[in-house]
Amino acid sequence: MHLPDLNVAKSRIKKENKYINLEENYQKIFADKKYFLRTYGCQMNVHDSEAIRSYLESLGLTNTENIEEANVVVLNTCAIRENARDKVIGFLGKCKYLKKNRDDFKIVLAGCMSEQPDFVDDILKNHKYIDIIIGTHNIYELPKLLMQEFKKQVIEVYSNSDEIVEGMHYERDSKISAWVNIMYGCDKFCTYCIVPYTRGRERSRKLESIIEEVNDLKNKGYKEVTLLGQNVNAYGKDIGETFSHLLECVAKTNIERIRFVTSHPWNFTDEMINVIAKYKNIMPYIHLPIQSGSDEILKRMNRRYTKKEYLELFHKMKEKIPGIAITTDIIVGFPNETRENFEETLDVVKTCEFDGAFTFIFSKREGTPAAKMEDTISQEEKEERLQELNKLVNYYSNKSNQKLLGKVVEVLVLGESEKNKEKLYGYTDTYKLVNIEGPKTIIGKIVNVKITDAKSFSLDGEYVNEKVTN
Ligand code: SAH
Ligand code: SF4
Ligand code: F3S
Repeated sequence: MHLPDLNVAKSRIKKENKYINLEENYQKIFADKKYFLRTYGCQMNVHDSEAIRSYLESLGLTNTENIEEANVVVLNTCAIRENARDKVIGFLGKCKYLKKNRDDFKIVLAGCMSEQPDFVDDILKNHKYIDIIIGTHNIYELPKLLMQEFKKQVIEVYSNSDEIVEGMHYERDSKISAWVNIMYGCDKFCTYCIVPYTRGRERSRKLESIIEEVNDLKNKGYKEVTLLGQNVNAYGKDIGETFSHLLECVAKTNIERIRFVTSHPWNFTDEMINVIAKYKNIMPYIHLPIQSGSDEILKRMNRRYTKKEYLELFHKMKEKIPGIAITTDIIVGFPNETRENFEETLDVVKTCEFDGAFTFIFSKREGTPAAKMEDTISQEEKEERLQELNKLVNYYSNKSNQKLLGKVVEVLVLGESEKNKEKLYGYTDTYKLVNIEGPKTIIGKIVNVKITDAKSFSLDGEYVNEKVTN
């Protein structure tokens, strides 16, 4: 049994990365059995779930959307805000009920909540029915744990994070657009954030391994890759590489579309901007979280930039990368955020006219510095601020979408729309969602689409013709 430990998780003693090559030795011990997988949280988790899916299928399990007929249930959890945790705990109640009187029903808890000592304490006391708790760093051990005979709860959560596992197999959700990890962890320690504790220290995959993966995806017919890291600017710092060099190497594979998330406004270099501007297959879209427009709050958040520096970077991007779309993340109600502090945030939103923004109320995360900060602002006030902010944010995302009305834009078509099977959906180069009227034969292609309607969160369009390649 290995329990998570916050002190180990936050230690950043410099260590060499350990590159491990996975050797597979799976037995189909679950042939004819089914699994149910539910994913919470960010793109990292969505991608980790593609690895989990691959492990489960290697053991002979097949997917079911109906939890009642499942033999193995895996929850890949998120700890970023309290409501993310609440959702998981609510769902666990249902799992507990279904497990009653059944020996052939295994519950596995993976993801960021497993890395939280207070949650694992709670599991030990109140959730004895969970069979396996596995951490984010050793997810590759899941098949081994499932293959062994166990009578008691198994907790295998490591808090040290030096390993980089290569040779991972993914059962990818899409055959058109793929996630590619370029690095793991985060060393920024923004004072509100749990990620540096749940995902460990920053460590980069080798450039050659990433390029090999992108080439392999391209050869399999993938049109798009999204490079993943909590802070992609920091890619390579531990191995004498840079993100701009990686990006350029990925662009030279000639895969049709390249995206990346997430960039930190701190240390976003001119070389990075130049590379994005230079290559047509690097999409003109950047998610650039600001979090707050107030210097005082940014300082207390440990974000390492001022409002002025953010705006300078923002304008430089707009100037150097033609047609670029920029979205952001904003937190309201950080401990003791005053009305004046909040108004600075509104002011930045008005200046930047973001193409979109994810907005959140600050949520206390145990073990982070902000959890200990004094906070006299009421929840009601925070909710009012969130609504006020959302109104403004939606106004500008609508405004930026309206600019596309009547225009013909390139869209990578990803599949049938979930809401309306008659329609297809895809994304513009600027990452705007388009619901398209057109033939199913265009799925997987980059096509020209005429925009017929624009709303705050999506566009409607009609298929015109295929993109002319040169
Ligand atoms: N690595 C990414 C962010 C990952 S978390 C980055 O730095 O941009 C995604 C977003 O969740 C953050 O940008 C932040 O806006 C929000 N968030 C993180 N911790 C939070 C907390 N404790 N309360 C509210 N929102 C939070
Ligand atoms: Fe969290 Fe900050 Fe790291 Fe992003 S950069 S994951 S917000 S600590
Ligand atoms: Fe959540 Fe972990 Fe991602 S806390 S946002 S799943 S890194």
